[in-house]
Amino acid sequence: MSDAERRTRILAVNAEHPEPDRIAEAARLIRAGQLVAFPTETVYGLGANALDAAAVRGIFAAKERPACDPLIVHLADVEALPPLVAELPPQVERLAEAFWPGPLTLVLPRSAAIPDEVTAGGPTVALRIPAHPVARALIRAAKRPIAAPSANRFGRLSPTRAEDVLADLGGRIDLILDGGLTPVGVESTVLSLVTPVPTILRPGGISREALEAVLGAVAVRSRTVGTGEIAASPGTLPQHYAPRTPLRLLLGGNEAVLAAMRRAALEAAARGRRIGLLVAEEDLPSLRNLPAVIEVAGSLRNPRGVARQLYAALRRLDGAGVERILARDFGERGLGLAVRDRLSRAAGGDVVEVTE
Ligand code: TXA
Ligand code: MG
Repeated sequence: MSDAERRTRILAVNAEHPEPDRIAEAARLIRAGQLVAFPTETVYGLGANALDAAAVRGIFAAKERPACDPLIVHLADVEALPPLVAELPPQVERLAEAFWPGPLTLVLPRSAAIPDEVTAGGPTVALRIPAHPVARALIRAAKRPIAAPSANRFGRLSPTRAEDVLADLGGRIDLILDGGLTPVGVESTVLSLVTPVPTILRPGGISREALEAVLGAVAVRSRTVGTGEIAASPGTLPQHYAPRTPLRLLLGGNEAVLAAMRRAALEAAARGRRIGLLVAEEDLPSLRNLPAVIEVAGSLRNPRGVARQLYAALRRLDGAGVERILARDFGERGLGLAVRDRLSRAAGGDVVEVTE
């Protein structure tokens, strides 16, 4: 079906108490092999029946995602897990107890029930039990595991609102369940349990500190960018989660970073151009009257709040007609690590350590 022929319907749902008739309608589409975008607590997912290979191929087509990048399978409860995995490592029970339902994805040895399309032909499958009431209701009503990547075109910013999904995938998918802004704002933490030490492949909504409190030592698969350790998940390119506008991530002391932002804004203004700045609340006094488009992602004291606002703030800067975006770093404590990972990927490697 071409984009022009396919109409994408939008159905508003109550995020806390989703209307059963609307969920039933979406579940019917999932069972029929169609594509439904829905809110999870992290970002919107683009869902299809995970056991239907043709439906899963539809996800890759709509997103223009390379087939080598495997998908996360979403379940309603732990009872749905055993048939999908070849083995249940001992940590699963403790992790499930502590973090499910929630923004943690576990990479486990797969069973033959999972189509190759989902796992990109690999020996493992990524699984998670989302906490969002709409996601849970949909999976329950569909009575199927639901494969769902973030509901954006491949390589673009993940969607935290239904309108973001529509902007990227309108005409390419059958239905969007609109449950408002997603509460966590960055994707789930992807944790591999097939490595000798549990390894974070992608930092996300569950912090490394929280995982270590349950598991003991946890490794972070990393590539070094600037001073920070930044995790990379296999099958993802370093240039990922990217706005269209070039973005540079500035690492370094507050004063040095703010001075660099002021210089860049004035230099652009002298040429009749504007830059965009992604900053913290605490930065605003130092940026007063600066000729730049400024977006506040939140407070340095609250990385969770920054994660929630991150993608919407980046989308606003991306739509503001600025020639480039300079983003500050928000540290690596709690969800700060996930924020740094997404900003460094949005920068496509343009990460600069600034000194006075
Ligand atoms: O929060 C989330 O995780 C969202 C919501 C919708 O659940 N989903 C999401 O999916 O972010 P996606 O496809 O955009 O990112 C999934 C990540 C990719 O980096 C992929 O490479 C990795 O998980 N992944 C999936 N299956 C894997 C596997 N078997 N082994 C290693 N990494 C895997
Ligand atoms: Mg994604």
